[in-house]
Amino acid sequence: MSILLTGGAGFIGSHTAVELINAGYDVVIADNLSNSNKKVIDRIEKITGKRPKFYEIDVAIKEELYKVFDENNIEGAIHFAGFKCVPESTKIPLKYYRNNLDTTLSLLEVMKEYNCNAIVFSSSATVYGDKNPVPFKEDMPVGGATNAYGSTKLMIENILTDVVKASDGFSAVMLRYFNPIGAHPSGLIGEAPDGIPNNLMPYVTQTAIGVRDHLIIYGEDYNTHDGTGVRDYIHVVDLARGHVAAIKYATEHLGIEAINLGTGNGNSVWDVVHAFEKANNVKIPTAIGNRRPGDIDECYASVDKAAKLLNWHAELTLEDMCKDSWNWQRNNPKGYED
Ligand code: WQD
Repeated sequence: MSILLTGGAGFIGSHTAVELINAGYDVVIADNLSNSNKKVIDRIEKITGKRPKFYEIDVAIKEELYKVFDENNIEGAIHFAGFKCVPESTKIPLKYYRNNLDTTLSLLEVMKEYNCNAIVFSSSATVYGDKNPVPFKEDMPVGGATNAYGSTKLMIENILTDVVKASDGFSAVMLRYFNPIGAHPSGLIGEAPDGIPNNLMPYVTQTAIGVRDHLIIYGEDYNTHDGTGVRDYIHVVDLARGHVAAIKYATEHLGIEAINLGTGNGNSVWDVVHAFEKANNVKIPTAIGNRRPGDIDECYASVDKAAKLLNWHAELTLEDMCKDSWNWQRNNPKGYED
Protein backbone atom coordinates (compact mmCIF):
# COMPACT_ATOMS: atom_id res chain seq x y z
CA MET A 1 0.00 0.00 0.00
CA SER A 2 1.35 3.39 -1.02
CA ILE A 3 0.59 7.02 -0.36
CA LEU A 4 0.53 9.29 -3.42
CA LEU A 5 1.99 12.78 -2.98
CA THR A 6 0.98 15.13 -5.77
CA GLY A 7 3.48 17.97 -5.84
CA GLY A 8 5.69 15.80 -3.66
CA ALA A 9 8.94 17.32 -4.96
CA GLY A 10 8.08 20.73 -3.51
CA PHE A 11 9.06 22.27 -0.19
CA ILE A 12 6.37 20.75 2.04
CA GLY A 13 5.86 17.65 -0.12
CA SER A 14 9.51 16.61 0.03
CA HIS A 15 9.64 16.92 3.82
CA THR A 16 6.41 14.94 4.05
CA ALA A 17 7.88 12.21 1.83
CA VAL A 18 10.79 11.88 4.26
CA GLU A 19 8.54 11.64 7.33
CA LEU A 20 6.20 9.14 5.63
CA ILE A 21 9.12 6.91 4.63
CA ASN A 22 10.52 7.19 8.17
CA ALA A 23 7.11 6.08 9.47
CA GLY A 24 7.21 2.99 7.22
CA TYR A 25 4.98 4.07 4.32
CA ASP A 26 5.69 3.47 0.62
CA VAL A 27 5.69 6.81 -1.14
CA VAL A 28 4.81 7.63 -4.74
CA ILE A 29 5.49 11.17 -5.93
CA ALA A 30 3.73 12.75 -8.93
CA ASP A 31 5.12 16.16 -9.84
CA ASN A 32 5.61 18.10 -13.09
CA LEU A 33 8.63 19.93 -11.60
CA SER A 34 7.09 23.28 -12.54
CA ASN A 35 8.40 24.78 -9.30
CA SER A 36 10.73 22.05 -8.04
CA ASN A 37 13.77 20.01 -9.01
CA LYS A 38 14.35 16.35 -9.81
CA LYS A 39 17.34 16.29 -7.45
CA VAL A 40 14.84 16.33 -4.58
CA ILE A 41 14.18 12.63 -5.23
CA ASP A 42 17.90 11.79 -4.80
CA ARG A 43 18.03 13.86 -1.64
CA ILE A 44 14.99 12.09 -0.14
CA GLU A 45 16.74 8.80 -0.85
CA LYS A 46 19.94 10.08 0.74
CA ILE A 47 18.11 11.08 3.92
CA THR A 48 15.90 8.01 4.30
CA GLY A 49 17.86 5.26 2.50
CA LYS A 50 14.74 4.56 0.44
CA ARG A 51 13.93 5.99 -2.99
CA PRO A 52 10.33 7.11 -3.50
CA LYS A 53 8.76 6.12 -6.80
CA PHE A 54 8.65 9.21 -9.01
CA TYR A 55 6.37 10.14 -11.93
CA GLU A 56 7.14 13.34 -13.80
CA ILE A 57 3.56 14.08 -14.83
CA ASP A 58 0.97 16.82 -14.80
CA VAL A 59 -1.61 15.78 -12.24
CA ALA A 60 -4.30 17.72 -14.11
CA ILE A 61 -4.05 15.21 -16.99
CA LYS A 62 -6.13 12.19 -16.04
CA GLU A 63 -4.48 9.82 -18.54
CA GLU A 64 -1.17 10.40 -16.79
CA LEU A 65 -2.70 9.80 -13.38
CA TYR A 66 -4.25 6.53 -14.58
CA LYS A 67 -0.75 5.17 -15.13
CA VAL A 68 0.18 5.98 -11.51
CA PHE A 69 -2.95 4.30 -10.16
CA ASP A 70 -2.54 1.30 -12.50
CA GLU A 71 1.05 0.67 -11.45
CA ASN A 72 0.64 1.21 -7.70
CA ASN A 73 -1.79 0.28 -4.97
CA ILE A 74 -2.61 3.79 -3.76
CA GLU A 75 -4.28 3.77 -0.36
CA GLY A 76 -4.53 7.53 0.04
CA ALA A 77 -3.35 10.79 -1.52
CA ILE A 78 -1.84 13.95 -0.10
CA HIS A 79 -2.56 16.73 -2.55
CA PHE A 80 0.12 19.44 -2.64
CA ALA A 81 0.19 20.11 -6.40
CA GLY A 82 -0.73 23.71 -7.09
CA PHE A 83 0.64 27.18 -7.67
CA LYS A 84 1.31 29.18 -4.51
CA CYS A 85 2.70 32.60 -5.34
CA VAL A 86 0.26 35.11 -3.86
CA PRO A 87 1.33 38.23 -5.82
CA GLU A 88 1.45 36.32 -9.11
CA SER A 89 -2.06 35.03 -8.42
CA THR A 90 -3.37 38.59 -8.28
CA LYS A 91 -1.75 39.36 -11.65
CA ILE A 92 -2.61 36.11 -13.48
CA PRO A 93 -5.67 34.76 -11.64
CA LEU A 94 -6.73 32.40 -14.43
CA LYS A 95 -3.41 30.56 -14.24
CA TYR A 96 -4.20 29.82 -10.58
CA TYR A 97 -7.85 28.88 -11.04
CA ARG A 98 -7.03 26.65 -14.02
CA ASN A 99 -4.13 24.79 -12.46
CA ASN A 100 -5.18 24.51 -8.83
CA LEU A 101 -8.74 23.46 -9.64
CA ASP A 102 -7.84 21.16 -12.56
CA THR A 103 -5.26 19.21 -10.57
CA THR A 104 -7.79 18.73 -7.77
CA LEU A 105 -10.71 17.72 -10.00
CA SER A 106 -8.62 15.24 -12.00
CA LEU A 107 -7.17 13.71 -8.86
CA LEU A 108 -10.58 13.34 -7.21
CA GLU A 109 -12.14 11.78 -10.32
CA VAL A 110 -9.33 9.27 -10.70
CA MET A 111 -9.35 8.45 -6.97
CA LYS A 112 -13.06 7.67 -7.16
CA GLU A 113 -12.59 5.50 -10.25
CA TYR A 114 -9.94 3.49 -8.41
CA ASN A 115 -11.83 3.35 -5.12
CA CYS A 116 -9.13 5.27 -3.33
CA ASN A 117 -11.06 6.96 -0.55
CA ALA A 118 -8.76 9.09 1.60
CA ILE A 119 -7.33 12.49 0.75
CA VAL A 120 -5.34 15.08 2.69
CA PHE A 121 -5.37 18.55 1.19
CA SER A 122 -2.82 21.36 1.53
CA SER A 123 -5.05 24.22 2.61
CA SER A 124 -3.99 27.48 4.20
CA ALA A 125 -4.74 29.78 7.12
CA THR A 126 -5.53 32.33 4.42
CA VAL A 127 -9.07 30.86 4.31
CA TYR A 128 -9.81 32.61 7.65
CA GLY A 129 -9.66 36.00 5.87
CA ASP A 130 -9.25 39.25 7.77
CA LYS A 131 -12.40 39.39 9.91
CA ASN A 132 -11.81 36.68 12.52
CA PRO A 133 -10.12 37.28 15.90
CA VAL A 134 -6.94 35.32 16.71
CA PRO A 135 -6.34 32.53 17.49
CA PHE A 136 -8.03 31.15 14.38
CA LYS A 137 -10.26 28.17 15.15
CA GLU A 138 -11.46 25.63 12.63
CA ASP A 139 -15.15 26.36 13.28
CA MET A 140 -14.82 30.09 12.54
CA PRO A 141 -16.42 31.36 9.33
CA VAL A 142 -14.09 31.19 6.34
CA GLY A 143 -14.04 33.44 3.30
CA GLY A 144 -12.94 36.85 2.15
CA ALA A 145 -9.68 35.75 0.53
CA THR A 146 -7.90 38.81 -0.89
CA ASN A 147 -6.16 37.00 -3.75
CA ALA A 148 -6.81 34.27 -6.31
CA TYR A 149 -4.40 31.84 -4.60
CA GLY A 150 -6.46 32.05 -1.40
CA SER A 151 -9.71 31.76 -3.36
CA THR A 152 -8.54 28.48 -4.90
CA LYS A 153 -7.88 27.10 -1.41
CA LEU A 154 -11.42 28.08 -0.35
CA MET A 155 -12.96 26.66 -3.52
CA ILE A 156 -11.14 23.37 -3.08
CA GLU A 157 -12.30 23.14 0.55
CA ASN A 158 -15.87 23.54 -0.78
CA ILE A 159 -15.34 20.93 -3.50
CA LEU A 160 -14.02 18.43 -0.96
CA THR A 161 -16.94 19.13 1.38
CA ASP A 162 -19.44 18.39 -1.41
CA VAL A 163 -17.60 15.27 -2.56
CA VAL A 164 -17.46 13.81 0.95
CA LYS A 165 -21.15 14.64 1.50
CA ALA A 166 -22.10 12.83 -1.69
CA SER A 167 -19.94 9.72 -1.37
CA ASP A 168 -20.15 6.85 1.03
CA GLY A 169 -16.78 5.93 2.34
CA PHE A 170 -14.82 8.97 1.15
CA SER A 171 -12.84 10.94 3.70
CA ALA A 172 -10.86 14.17 3.59
CA VAL A 173 -8.63 16.13 5.94
CA MET A 174 -7.98 19.75 4.98
CA LEU A 175 -4.82 20.95 6.67
CA ARG A 176 -4.76 24.70 7.16
CA TYR A 177 -1.08 25.63 7.27
CA PHE A 178 0.14 28.69 9.06
CA ASN A 179 3.68 29.86 8.08
CA PRO A 180 5.99 26.92 7.30
CA ILE A 181 9.71 27.74 7.48
CA GLY A 182 12.90 25.83 8.39
CA ALA A 183 14.35 22.90 6.49
CA HIS A 184 15.39 19.31 7.09
CA PRO A 185 18.24 19.32 9.65
CA SER A 186 20.42 17.37 7.18
CA GLY A 187 20.57 20.50 5.00
CA LEU A 188 19.68 18.33 1.98
CA ILE A 189 16.14 19.57 1.31
CA GLY A 190 14.59 22.98 1.89
CA GLU A 191 12.73 25.87 0.33
CA ALA A 192 14.09 26.95 -3.06
CA PRO A 193 12.10 29.94 -4.29
CA ASP A 194 12.30 30.89 -7.93
CA GLY A 195 13.59 34.47 -8.24
CA ILE A 196 13.03 37.09 -5.55
CA PRO A 197 11.37 35.46 -2.52
CA ASN A 198 7.94 36.73 -1.45
CA ASN A 199 8.01 35.14 1.98
CA LEU A 200 9.90 36.34 5.00
CA MET A 201 12.30 33.51 5.86
CA PRO A 202 13.79 32.90 2.39
CA TYR A 203 14.29 36.66 2.12
CA VAL A 204 16.07 36.65 5.48
CA THR A 205 18.38 33.76 4.53
CA GLN A 206 19.19 35.30 1.13
CA THR A 207 20.00 38.58 2.88
CA ALA A 208 22.21 36.77 5.38
CA ILE A 209 24.15 35.11 2.56
CA GLY A 210 24.47 38.36 0.62
CA VAL A 211 22.26 37.61 -2.39
CA ARG A 212 19.93 40.39 -1.18
CA ASP A 213 21.18 43.62 0.19
CA HIS A 214 18.72 44.16 3.01
CA LEU A 215 15.34 42.99 4.25
CA ILE A 216 12.47 45.45 3.91
CA ILE A 217 10.11 45.20 6.86
CA TYR A 218 6.62 45.73 5.51
CA GLY A 219 5.21 48.21 8.02
CA GLU A 220 5.93 48.98 11.65
CA ASP A 221 2.50 50.39 12.48
CA TYR A 222 0.50 47.19 12.93
CA ASN A 223 -1.53 46.63 16.07
CA THR A 224 1.00 44.19 17.57
CA HIS A 225 3.57 44.16 20.41
CA ASP A 226 6.27 45.86 18.31
CA GLY A 227 4.27 47.18 15.34
CA THR A 228 5.36 44.48 12.85
CA GLY A 229 3.10 41.71 11.55
CA VAL A 230 2.64 38.65 13.76
CA ARG A 231 2.48 35.14 12.29
CA ASP A 232 2.52 31.53 13.48
CA TYR A 233 5.82 30.18 12.09
CA ILE A 234 6.01 26.39 12.10
CA HIS A 235 8.98 24.15 11.34
CA VAL A 236 8.41 22.28 8.07
CA VAL A 237 9.47 18.99 9.71
CA ASP A 238 6.73 19.41 12.34
CA LEU A 239 4.31 20.27 9.54
CA ALA A 240 5.38 17.16 7.61
CA ARG A 241 4.74 14.97 10.68
CA GLY A 242 1.27 16.51 10.88
CA HIS A 243 0.63 15.07 7.40
CA VAL A 244 1.66 11.58 8.51
CA ALA A 245 -0.90 11.82 11.32
CA ALA A 246 -3.52 13.26 8.96
CA ILE A 247 -3.28 10.55 6.29
CA LYS A 248 -3.53 7.91 9.02
CA TYR A 249 -6.62 9.67 10.36
CA ALA A 250 -8.18 9.97 6.89
CA THR A 251 -7.71 6.27 6.16
CA GLU A 252 -9.25 5.29 9.52
CA HIS A 253 -12.21 7.73 9.78
CA LEU A 254 -15.09 8.72 7.52
CA GLY A 255 -16.10 12.31 6.83
CA ILE A 256 -14.29 15.61 6.45
CA GLU A 257 -12.28 17.69 8.90
CA ALA A 258 -10.45 21.01 8.60
CA ILE A 259 -7.44 21.05 10.94
CA ASN A 260 -4.95 23.83 11.68
CA LEU A 261 -1.25 23.04 11.57
CA GLY A 262 0.53 25.73 13.55
CA THR A 263 2.36 26.11 16.84
CA GLY A 264 -0.22 28.39 18.46
CA ASN A 265 2.47 31.05 19.04
CA GLY A 266 2.63 34.39 17.30
CA ASN A 267 5.99 35.94 16.40
CA SER A 268 6.54 39.35 14.82
CA VAL A 269 8.86 40.16 11.93
CA TRP A 270 11.30 41.65 14.43
CA ASP A 271 11.05 38.52 16.63
CA VAL A 272 12.06 36.39 13.61
CA VAL A 273 14.91 38.70 12.57
CA HIS A 274 16.31 38.81 16.11
CA ALA A 275 15.93 35.05 16.64
CA PHE A 276 17.72 34.42 13.32
CA GLU A 277 20.58 36.76 14.21
CA LYS A 278 20.99 35.19 17.64
CA ALA A 279 20.71 31.55 16.53
CA ASN A 280 23.20 31.94 13.70
CA ASN A 281 25.43 34.76 14.85
CA VAL A 282 24.82 36.81 11.72
CA LYS A 283 23.55 40.32 11.08
CA ILE A 284 20.49 41.04 8.89
CA PRO A 285 20.50 44.56 7.45
CA THR A 286 16.94 45.92 7.48
CA ALA A 287 14.92 48.93 6.36
CA ILE A 288 11.35 49.87 7.22
CA GLY A 289 9.04 49.97 4.21
CA ASN A 290 5.32 50.40 3.53
CA ARG A 291 2.68 47.90 4.44
CA ARG A 292 2.16 45.15 1.87
CA PRO A 293 -1.44 45.17 0.56
CA GLY A 294 -3.56 42.35 2.01
CA ASP A 295 -1.39 41.77 5.12
CA ILE A 296 -3.16 41.52 8.46
CA ASP A 297 -1.97 42.39 12.00
CA GLU A 298 -1.91 38.95 13.50
CA CYS A 299 -2.41 35.36 12.37
CA TYR A 300 -1.93 32.39 14.67
CA ALA A 301 -3.60 29.06 15.21
CA SER A 302 -5.74 27.42 17.79
CA VAL A 303 -4.01 24.04 18.01
CA ASP A 304 -6.49 22.06 20.13
CA LYS A 305 -8.18 20.23 17.27
CA ALA A 306 -4.91 18.88 15.85
CA ALA A 307 -3.96 17.65 19.32
CA LYS A 308 -7.35 16.02 19.86
CA LEU A 309 -7.93 14.40 16.47
CA LEU A 310 -4.40 13.76 15.25
CA ASN A 311 -2.55 13.47 18.56
CA TRP A 312 -0.06 15.87 17.00
CA HIS A 313 1.53 19.08 18.13
CA ALA A 314 4.51 21.10 16.94
CA GLU A 315 7.69 20.38 18.88
CA LEU A 316 10.43 22.42 17.26
CA THR A 317 11.27 25.99 18.34
CA LEU A 318 11.78 29.25 16.48
CA GLU A 319 15.50 28.78 17.15
CA ASP A 320 15.39 25.36 15.42
CA MET A 321 13.58 26.94 12.46
CA CYS A 322 16.20 29.70 12.17
CA LYS A 323 19.15 27.30 12.48
CA ASP A 324 17.79 24.82 9.94
CA SER A 325 16.79 27.52 7.43
CA TRP A 326 20.33 28.92 7.59
CA ASN A 327 21.96 25.50 7.39
CA TRP A 328 19.97 24.76 4.21
CA GLN A 329 20.78 28.16 2.65
CA ARG A 330 24.51 27.90 3.42
CA ASN A 331 24.78 24.37 2.06
CA ASN A 332 22.74 25.24 -1.05
CA PRO A 333 23.34 28.90 -1.87
CA LYS A 334 21.57 28.46 -5.23
CA GLY A 335 18.89 26.06 -4.04
CA TYR A 336 18.96 22.84 -6.08
CA GLU A 337 20.90 24.40 -8.93
CA ASP A 338 24.63 23.69 -9.15
C1 WQD B 1 5.22 37.09 6.94
C2 WQD B 1 5.39 38.44 7.61
C3 WQD B 1 5.01 40.29 6.13
C4 WQD B 1 8.51 39.53 3.54
C5 WQD B 1 1.86 34.03 2.89
C6 WQD B 1 0.57 33.71 2.20
C7 WQD B 1 -0.04 32.47 2.78
C8 WQD B 1 0.94 31.33 2.69
C9 WQD B 1 2.25 31.68 3.32
C10 WQD B 1 1.65 29.99 0.85
C11 WQD B 1 4.32 39.46 7.21
C12 WQD B 1 6.46 40.27 6.59
C13 WQD B 1 7.55 39.45 4.53
C14 WQD B 1 9.41 40.63 3.53
C15 WQD B 1 8.36 41.46 5.54
N1 WQD B 1 1.09 31.00 1.33
N2 WQD B 1 7.47 40.40 5.52
N3 WQD B 1 9.31 41.55 4.56
O1 WQD B 1 1.98 36.79 4.20
O2 WQD B 1 1.86 35.52 6.39
O3 WQD B 1 1.62 34.31 4.26
O4 WQD B 1 2.74 32.91 2.80
O5 WQD B 1 2.03 29.32 0.17
O6 WQD B 1 -1.22 32.17 2.13
O7 WQD B 1 -0.31 34.81 2.32
O8 WQD B 1 3.84 35.16 4.88
O9 WQD B 1 6.30 35.15 4.81
O10 WQD B 1 5.04 36.56 3.13
O11 WQD B 1 5.08 37.26 5.53
O12 WQD B 1 8.31 42.33 6.43
O13 WQD B 1 10.30 40.78 2.65
O14 WQD B 1 6.65 39.01 7.18
O15 WQD B 1 4.52 41.60 6.04
O16 WQD B 1 4.06 40.25 8.35
P1 WQD B 1 2.27 35.57 4.96
P2 WQD B 1 5.13 36.00 4.51
